Amino acid sequence: MIYPASDLLKRLPTQFFSELVSTVQRYKQEGFDVINLGQGNPDLPTPFHIVEALKNAASDPRHHKYSPFQGYQELKQAVSDYYLREYNVTIDPDTEVAILPGTKTGLVELSQCLLNPNDTVLVPDPGYPDYISGVKMAEANMIPMPLVEANDFLPDYLALPKEAHAAKLMFLNYPNNPTGAKATPHFFEETVQFATQHNIAVCHDFAYHTIQFDGEQAPSFLQTPGAKEVGIEMLTLSKAYNMAGWRIGFAVGNKDIIEKLELIQDHLYVSIFGAVQMAAVAALTSSQSATKALTATYEKRRNVLIDALSAIGWEVTKPSGTFFCWLKVPDGYTSESFSRYLLDSAKVMVAPGNGFGDYGEGYVRVALLDSDTRLIEAAKRIEATKIFNSTTTVNA
Ligand SMILES: Cc1ncc(COP(=O)(O)O)c(C=O)c1O
Repeated sequence: MIYPASDLLKRLPTQFFSELVSTVQRYKQEGFDVINLGQGNPDLPTPFHIVEALKNAASDPRHHKYSPFQGYQELKQAVSDYYLREYNVTIDPDTEVAILPGTKTGLVELSQCLLNPNDTVLVPDPGYPDYISGVKMAEANMIPMPLVEANDFLPDYLALPKEAHAAKLMFLNYPNNPTGAKATPHFFEETVQFATQHNIAVCHDFAYHTIQFDGEQAPSFLQTPGAKEVGIEMLTLSKAYNMAGWRIGFAVGNKDIIEKLELIQDHLYVSIFGAVQMAAVAALTSSQSATKALTATYEKRRNVLIDALSAIGWEVTKPSGTFFCWLKVPDGYTSESFSRYLLDSAKVMVAPGNGFGDYGEGYVRVALLDSDTRLIEAAKRIEATKIFNSTTTVNA
């Protein structure tokens, strides 16, 4: 039997990277050693003390029952304590925190909570594709906010078309996937001003909150005066604690939006396995040294890769955060043709930039999610294709 798909399913965007992913699978089956720098799946394990916290909690019968619909109070308190300790931001654990089964889910739910058909949403271009999934489900219209190098990959609110002023919702994400760019407190002030003036709800996706390099700490949107009036921040444990498989994150900020997210979740889930919630408490409240060490690992990998690629003659710039490098493709190539070239000729997979939006054309995204040795190996393989006129050789 074949069943007709609902209109909602038909509206969903196609999975852009599926062709590349299947080519990678094919090469692997043929025995090739493909270096996969195309996807964003953290390669290192969850810190030991968090795994231990899960194990201990898993044997507690309290967690074998349904957990409270909106999650455990201990966890909401831990999120509130975390914001005070790390960002000096006061959060009411009762009304200003929603627990999410991963922020991917929360980002999609948010559009269901705030948008009606034909409403307008502002999305970063290039940007994380899941914003678009939620917007399409809600039958809303998107206006892209171009992120270009000349503006440090920040949206320029003054350059947006007039229709942008009617938007109901805006997505932002810094440290930014895919560009690796950072936000400044000044930019967040401009955001609050723009959102207040036009009555736009802001969702700042803070997925890479701990991964900013060169001794800087990424600012929280909620540190901006007035931010809680206009929006929320979403924060995941997937990246800071290598807990991508555990599926846990939070939305924090504006009470009204938090209430709406909790309402939709009451209809979709019975919260998250209590033992995972307790492990999240351990992650947020214990020493952050493993998270700092992880950021240092990514910073070292960034330096290794960027130095190696510069040495082979690829003109690249260093990202200031996240575990992605956003690199210009050489003349004569598009994002897709260059990604395909690297996969076929060097067996190195990178993500074509146009998969993140029209303004991603001309770039590829390279993830720092393999060891220094493999990153150097990737650079050597690219050098061997002779696509760049290298003056030095990668010999580390
Ligand atoms: C920008 C951004 N936001 C959100 C997410 C989703 O994170 P999770 O669903 O694991 O919390 C990701 C994951 O790759 C991401 O890159």
